[in-house]
Amino acid sequence: MCGIFGYTGFRRLGPIILEGLKRLEYRGYDSAGVAFISSGLQVMKDAGKIDEISRKFNFSGIDGKLAISHTRWATHGAVTQTNAHPHISCNGRIAVVHNGIIENYIDLKRELISLGHKFRSETDTEVIPHLIEEFYRKTGDPLKAIFMAVSKLDGSFAFLAIFEDHPDRIFAVRYKSPLVIGLGDGENFVASDVPAFLKYTKKVIFLDDMEVAVISRDSVEVFNSLTREKVDKEIYIVPWSVEDAERGGYPHFMMKEIMEQRFTITRVLGQDDRIREASQLIKDAQKVFLVAAGTSYHACLASSYWFAEIAGVNARAVLASEFPSISKLVDDKSLVIAVSQSGETADVLESVRMAKKRGSKILGIVNVVGSSLMRISDAFLTINAGPEICVLATKSYTSQLAILYLLVNDLVGRLENAKEEIKRAETLVAHMLESEALLKDIRRIAKDLSASEHIFLIGRGISYATSLEGALKIKEVSYIHAEGFAGGELKHGTLALIEEGTPCIAIVPEDETKDQTLGNAMEIKARGGYIIGLSNEEHVVFDELIRTPSETSLSPIVMIIPLQLLAYYLALERGCNVDQPRNLAKSVTVL
Ligand code: M6R
Repeated sequence: MCGIFGYTGFRRLGPIILEGLKRLEYRGYDSAGVAFISSGLQVMKDAGKIDEISRKFNFSGIDGKLAISHTRWATHGAVTQTNAHPHISCNGRIAVVHNGIIENYIDLKRELISLGHKFRSETDTEVIPHLIEEFYRKTGDPLKAIFMAVSKLDGSFAFLAIFEDHPDRIFAVRYKSPLVIGLGDGENFVASDVPAFLKYTKKVIFLDDMEVAVISRDSVEVFNSLTREKVDKEIYIVPWSVEDAERGGYPHFMMKEIMEQRFTITRVLGQDDRIREASQLIKDAQKVFLVAAGTSYHACLASSYWFAEIAGVNARAVLASEFPSISKLVDDKSLVIAVSQSGETADVLESVRMAKKRGSKILGIVNVVGSSLMRISDAFLTINAGPEICVLATKSYTSQLAILYLLVNDLVGRLENAKEEIKRAETLVAHMLESEALLKDIRRIAKDLSASEHIFLIGRGISYATSLEGALKIKEVSYIHAEGFAGGELKHGTLALIEEGTPCIAIVPEDETKDQTLGNAMEIKARGGYIIGLSNEEHVVFDELIRTPSETSLSPIVMIIPLQLLAYYLALERGCNVDQPRNLAKSVTVL
């Protein structure tokens, strides 16, 4: 949860560092800082937004040969200037930026203090520069010092280190937190995520766990920190364009990414061979688990209904953070389908590692090609949605649904039909997103609902997943309390919360759940609830109608669109930070 970025090369250092940091701001945005070497090692850091801190220290004016930088999402230690990264060694000649958590930092700190080290911050990270300093003092060799320091660390970490004594090298280390190197000509980049340098290069190396890279402007060498041997790394070409990572005239990435669904959904097509390989894994398995977090979990939950109804397969959707509690069910006859936009979510990766240990096969479904999940999976599918920058997952959700739908249908020999249905769903999504009347209606409804304390959403069957996803979107961006419910569950308790005027969104596609959901909406209305229907037709129970197409088989894709828009407009009405909601980060790379 934090973004780290380093650069060495011929460009002016300040602007490139600032640009890299800004592109990683979605990963954390409570403090930021830079360390660079220019007549000695210098550090500039503070709490606050990158723009404020950059103005304060004039980041653009930074000059020198190389720099490392950080944008923070606090875990250990309050949001203060002292706790902001980079952190430095006692002598101030080694600087480190870190993403992840050092779990044994209390023991290490105690040990280092007993050796005379003086700590400045409350962070777990600060043990790293002190440890490196300790071993560097003993060996005089920066790489050996890093190997030795890494062998002492427990937890998850991606960190960059620079030494005043070695002003031409950035040392980059990865264990369980993402780190990618961008290869340029006479320059090299290293970052938590590709968009940080996509404008300059698409040639990348993904570091694997326990690897250390030594990066200078003309070379990159990678070593295994356990064997200390050099490793040959595969170079990937990132299939994204620079424009993909720009706002492209939209006021927010969220709106841009919602709008992109007019053409991103069908980008899942064109991987028939991989889909067949994936289907075979399902057919060979006795148990199938769908494992993911947040929005990706909602895609799993929705698809579990398709698995049951279309293919007769019992695929159990499990929250990645809860997976350890049921992991005993997993064995060598199991298949775990792990779904993650980033492919870096710690809970998902941990579940996969656990499942692998128990002999299970892994099918990864990712957006980020080359991500950790993709690389540790036995087989993988990509959603090809392009970079998703907004903290809220929107386009990745509809694409995850689309690929899962293809997969389920391939199991019963309906892949070609399913492809046509996906194309049709995308057309319907495009019609909705291009309908000015619909956008205007939703904006008006958002204005009406913007002062609400609670919003409830109900749906039955597969629309239950839509209700959960819609509620998540509303909560995380507008900070209104929203809850999704299976329509039939309300009478078992939640109905008690309905008062005069309580807004409730009823998700009513033209499927077998329609009449019962309408019945549940009636129950709410009878207790004073204000009903907003998502439906293709008026109904007496609706106080408001958001008209949706009468699509049935792919209703989760179609029905989520107005809810994404509603969440967006609610955030605007309430003056919330749309792309960077408080307390959140795009990739949750800590457990
Ligand atoms: O990268 P992943 O798909 O693994 O991320 C999972 C969740 O962290 C993510 O969906 C999160 O819930 C989003 N903020 C939802 O909008």
